[in-house]
Amino acid sequence: MIPRRRIDIGLQDAADLWHGMRESVTSASGQVREFEAAASALLGGVPVRATASGRDALDLILAGLGIGPGDELVIPAYTLGELVARLRARGLKPVAADVDVDSFCLTPESVARAITPRTRAVVALHTFGAPCDIRGIAAVAARHGVPLIEDCAHAFGARIDGQPAGSVGRAALFSLEVAKPVAAFGGGLLASADAQLLAVAAEQLEMRRHSPWPATRKTLMKCAEEFAVRSPAYALAARMMFREMPSGGFESFYRGLHDRVRPADVAFGGFQARRGLRRLQGLAARNRHLNGLWEQLAASLPRGFVAQQRRRHGDPAAYNFVARHAGDLSRLRRRAQAAGLDLAIHGEILDDVAPMLGQTDCPGAAQVFAEAVAIPLHLGIDEAGLQRIGEILAGVVAP
Ligand SMILES: Cc1ncc(COP(=O)(O)O)c(C=O)c1O
Repeated sequence: MIPRRRIDIGLQDAADLWHGMRESVTSASGQVREFEAAASALLGGVPVRATASGRDALDLILAGLGIGPGDELVIPAYTLGELVARLRARGLKPVAADVDVDSFCLTPESVARAITPRTRAVVALHTFGAPCDIRGIAAVAARHGVPLIEDCAHAFGARIDGQPAGSVGRAALFSLEVAKPVAAFGGGLLASADAQLLAVAAEQLEMRRHSPWPATRKTLMKCAEEFAVRSPAYALAARMMFREMPSGGFESFYRGLHDRVRPADVAFGGFQARRGLRRLQGLAARNRHLNGLWEQLAASLPRGFVAQQRRRHGDPAAYNFVARHAGDLSRLRRRAQAAGLDLAIHGEILDDVAPMLGQTDCPGAAQVFAEAVAIPLHLGIDEAGLQRIGEILAGVVAP
């Protein structure tokens, strides 16, 4: 089975983990500062703080902007569903703006339609690493006098006319989760040049617990997962776990597990910083390599698949390969699994959050959600793997 994700774990990680368990808080903090400086350099010098997760970074940004109960926040209708509960828990009112069906991203027009006099910020996502029209959206936000937050959870290394994604808006969040472009076994980054926002975030980050254990637990869990994914039994397990569950049954359990294993009140640690630094160093080369495979896969898709348009507004970072397919996705997935290809569909990829918010005005997100198929594309796939994927897809869509 060609698995949907591969986690890059090596001997150096084991060494770093061992080191991280024994090092002092001062040494770990020094390592974290070094990682933040390296991330900041890649973002053109925008100050960066490491956080417990991407969600944590968003919470800190909102606190730093003084956004609180009763305030409206424009978010993409096609995004991570968990964000809705998280925002509501802060008393915020998320309002979904529709996405374009080809790029899966917000547009300046859809953002303008969703803004009301109660809007306090706009969150724009570079979906699956593809830059959205962030300049156009920034212009709309500026016209209404609200700050723009860039959700770069998928987009470390993406560029807009040469400018790094995450350096255009007032603030940006990045995720360092396991399958993200810079994977540090959990964690996130907050990037912003707003001194007041940074001061509020720094105050909250100061109060975090220092413990190497949550990241260690998570890494061990990921090692076990990687071992399972590479075993011959994975094909059977995947067929049992990923079945007719439009709401992404197993996948949402999997996502929830991540949060339970790594609580939000724990500071980003020394082990993660070491790992993050190594991932930053190879980021540009990895993005180039995976983007090359991405183009090849897009060109080899059989009729009936429409790959995401990713280069409309800049150079993408490599994250999920997602295409639209208008047929019966459950059947498609079943046939692909039987042929040895682990496709993800519907809520296993991202969510249509408009229905969660009681909105019926986001047909683009509804269509993308209904038709989205994630085709495996990761560092475990070589040219022969790509060819195999093309052959399997051609076989499963054949009548
Ligand atoms: C669109 C989007 N925003 C934010 C996040 C939050 O990142 P994290 O899982 O690190 O909290 C994710 C995570 O996958 C995401 O997909």
